[in-house]
Amino acid sequence: MPKADLEYEAKRSLNRIRPKIIQRIGETCEADRGALLLETIEARLEEHWLRLFGLLYQLYGHHYDFFYYLENILLTTVECWLNRPEALLESDVRRENNPEWYLSEEMIGGSLYVDLFSDDLKTLRTKLPYFKRLGLTYIHLMPLFASRVGNSDGGYAISDYRAVDSKFGTFEDLLILADAFREAGIVLVLDFVFNHTSDDHEWAIRAQEGSREYMDYYHIYADRQIPDQYEQQLREIFPTTRRGNFTWHEGMKRWVWTTFNSFQWDLKYANPEVFRAMAAEMLFLANSGVDILRLDAVAFIWKQVGTSCENLPEAHLLIQAFNALCRIAAPGLIFKSEAIVHPDEVVRYISREECQISYNPTLMALLWESIATRETKLLKQSLSHRHELDGGTAWINYLRCHDDIGWSFDNDDAWVVGIHPGDHRDFLNRFYTGRFEGTFASGVPFQHNEETGDMRISGTMASLAGLEQGQEKDDAGLIEMAVLRIRMLYGILSSIGGIPLIFLGEEWGLLNDYSYESIPDKADDSRWVHRPRMNWDNLKRLQGKGTVSRRINDIISELFSVRKNLTALGGGEMELLPLENSHLLSFVRRNNENVLIVLANFSERELEVDLFLLRAEGYGHFLKDVLSGEIYSTKEKIRLKPYALLWLEED
Ligand code: GLC
Ligand code: GLC
Repeated sequence: MPKADLEYEAKRSLNRIRPKIIQRIGETCEADRGALLLETIEARLEEHWLRLFGLLYQLYGHHYDFFYYLENILLTTVECWLNRPEALLESDVRRENNPEWYLSEEMIGGSLYVDLFSDDLKTLRTKLPYFKRLGLTYIHLMPLFASRVGNSDGGYAISDYRAVDSKFGTFEDLLILADAFREAGIVLVLDFVFNHTSDDHEWAIRAQEGSREYMDYYHIYADRQIPDQYEQQLREIFPTTRRGNFTWHEGMKRWVWTTFNSFQWDLKYANPEVFRAMAAEMLFLANSGVDILRLDAVAFIWKQVGTSCENLPEAHLLIQAFNALCRIAAPGLIFKSEAIVHPDEVVRYISREECQISYNPTLMALLWESIATRETKLLKQSLSHRHELDGGTAWINYLRCHDDIGWSFDNDDAWVVGIHPGDHRDFLNRFYTGRFEGTFASGVPFQHNEETGDMRISGTMASLAGLEQGQEKDDAGLIEMAVLRIRMLYGILSSIGGIPLIFLGEEWGLLNDYSYESIPDKADDSRWVHRPRMNWDNLKRLQGKGTVSRRINDIISELFSVRKNLTALGGGEMELLPLENSHLLSFVRRNNENVLIVLANFSERELEVDLFLLRAEGYGHFLKDVLSGEIYSTKEKIRLKPYALLWLEED
């Protein structure tokens, strides 16, 4: 539709829906407050309606009953907003006035499984002082909604988005926790698992009962004809669990699209009813007090025959439409993208209008790549043109999360620096699974596909960084190197631009936990090796003076606390420095007038670096490392210790 017509139709539709909005507001409150609410919603619609209309029109305009859905979606949105608790309305206003709140240098994240960390939500609340001590201001709770019995993919197979799994507590417990977080200045992050539901979600059950309406919520086929057509271009995400992307359902005698596990049914967003229904679930979640929604598996939400069914343009339109709904009903809420795909695609999900923040899987993979090779050329090549993001957005920088590591760097970036990408991935897989002579890492293969040779890696941060091997061999030298490696890596996460995120347990250097191998629902998913239980009694021993765990904890806490006081580390602007050394990463961070230079040695050898180049770049005569207090002159060559990390300010 031409732009002028679109504007005209958007306005016309809104005029038709408006009386119902006014009526709903009138029903909920007194006239005075009603006038205020109307003013607020009118202002938000003025700003976002045209965009929302355009997105929905592109996605669903060809449906004969488009207006029905349009009205329904907007009224659902308004309804959710009217139900929004007072404290969240206030926080919305504060954030509308400070829309880039999440770019602050004070943001530091942690993620955890409620049951593994603290058993349940009530006990989790008692851990607030723990988070504060560590410096965390952002906590991502892994899925805690009602999920299927048995294997639920760690809660990613959701049976009810409005109920908390009873093993964690009740929905009321979640609300109380959210309030406590808000008071403590901690941002709450929850998943919006919207690519699929569990096979025992009410919609899936209705489909299994033969309801045509609900069968249309999913991709369900009577025979292999269409699945086979799709299959020609599809990847397999969990090939050791099940081949192909479809699961035969004996009850329905039909094939169901299941990108991940067989019990995770992909939703069919081509059906506007699915968008409407999931929008209602999302806004319900928004009202629970969540600040950031982690959009799970964003790449897979739209399917089109003849394509890989990943990262399709419609996937972006859908997320933008969800984003627009939040701007209207819950403007304090932002999205975090989980797109673990090619770096060119990862960045396409990131914008103010789509996902404001995103996992940085490329940096994650390349940090592991660089410490394996002790070379930073691929990392620098990638950072040189991939780190910069649009205004109002940020990377989430992490080393490990609950998932595996995939070597998702760009092949051309590798070729440019003389690396054969295929061979290199093979080397990295061998390095991180103990099949490379001299490796320090103790990792486990994940989803090894015998046919293609593809593999991903599981393992905790500390085990991959060499601590497990060092402790096994009781070798003080290896342990020392592991600790220094860890310090250097967190130093980069905390300073390179964006929000650092740890997976809780890392702060004590927890090692791989191989006990999952004997648990039937977990045994064939090696990701459980890096999801150890936080054993608080055991921790008391680990925390003792002089232990390695204590040291790691002190190191990480110190980096976080220093970060919070360095204004230069807010935002995301980063520029690589031309200091030439193949084992060195050096960059400068700038935020307004504030400047910080970061140097990191990626090898266990000493390095010589000539700082005179910095003088040539216009930096002062003396630089002070804010971490050690040491002063360096830019007139000379300096020696960087193994895995040295310097955060330099002009003195
Ligand atoms: C996401 C989650 C992962 C899960 C998958 C399916 O990628 O991070 O743990 O297996 O989605 O929900
Ligand atoms: C794939 C998916 C990602 C998911 C992961 C789980 O990499 O792209 O979304 O987290 O598999 O292993």
